[in-house]
Amino acid sequence: MTNLAWTRRHIISLADFSPTEYESVLQTALSFQGVLSRRTKKVPTLQGQVVANLFFEPSTRTRSSFELAAKRLSADTLNFSPGSSSLTKGETILDTAKTYLAMGTDLMVIRHQGSGVPATIAQEMDRLDAGVWVLNAGDGQHEHPSQALLDLLTICNSINPDQPTIEDLRGKKIAIIGDILHSRVARSNLWSLTACGAEVHLAAPPTLLPKAFADAFSTPLETEKGKALRQVFVHWQLAPALEDADFVMALRLQKERMTGHLLPSLREYHRQFGLTRDRLKACNPKVKVLHPGPTNRGVEITSDLMDDPQLSLVSKQVASGVAVRMALLYLMGGTRASTTLSPR
Ligand code: NCD
Repeated sequence: MTNLAWTRRHIISLADFSPTEYESVLQTALSFQGVLSRRTKKVPTLQGQVVANLFFEPSTRTRSSFELAAKRLSADTLNFSPGSSSLTKGETILDTAKTYLAMGTDLMVIRHQGSGVPATIAQEMDRLDAGVWVLNAGDGQHEHPSQALLDLLTICNSINPDQPTIEDLRGKKIAIIGDILHSRVARSNLWSLTACGAEVHLAAPPTLLPKAFADAFSTPLETEKGKALRQVFVHWQLAPALEDADFVMALRLQKERMTGHLLPSLREYHRQFGLTRDRLKACNPKVKVLHPGPTNRGVEITSDLMDDPQLSLVSKQVASGVAVRMALLYLMGGTRASTTLSPR
């Protein structure tokens, strides 16, 4: 297992992740991909530790892959579903988190429809000096760090299958298409891809991509050679984003987060921004397509494109999710072991 220095405790946002941290996650995840391809896919790393998956919002892949990742690391896992919990009796989110703390939870993986909930729980754990580290598994429209990190692994694996490194991303053009406004996946990916030197081109109708959106990501990057600017471009048409793109990431229209009528119709959206095999002809001939799922087939991407193993990395993204989440739990477990002085 790689042993690059890792000092971060909670993982809430990628906004201040350094290139060294991305490389650590990537290399650690690659080692776990090796473990997952063995006959015995389990390692004893987190034996005796408790990982609680507190998912206050629906999820298929993120929740299952965090659970599988924790189990592959030999942790004990606790799973929480709001519908069958004491939340329905009026218990607060913080009291729910403290209940899991009292049961001996070491790592909390939290998804919530409200932006900021994982950060608030992390602050509360710190205030209590609980020695519990929190991982954000998607909060409102804010961030989804583990999704962007699994996208990073998938992209680097695709560019350089023999020896992937974040350097492979330098100068690559990545188009992110769709409901950028409501997407925590887009926000986390903007931090990670630009920090690794990729050019990110966003394309969506203006109602889903405000002009000032990219300004939030114009913070300078610390590089070995000094400061650099993050490369983010905004387009309200699909064509300039797709031109010569190396990777194209489609995003789901998040109808559950749309408060007004932001689109004329789904058919019109597909006509203007839907990804089709034909439209990809404008991209780099080796282009690959990503989608974090769940997908509205026939809206943001056609079914035949999504299911084409030559063009689509969607199943690879899901597979990468387990290795990346093992890496994150492993790295966080390591800092817990070195910073918590006495057992609770
Ligand atoms: C995303 C999410 O929940 O933010 N899905 C995921 O985690 N794989 C994207 C979405 O819901 O559209």
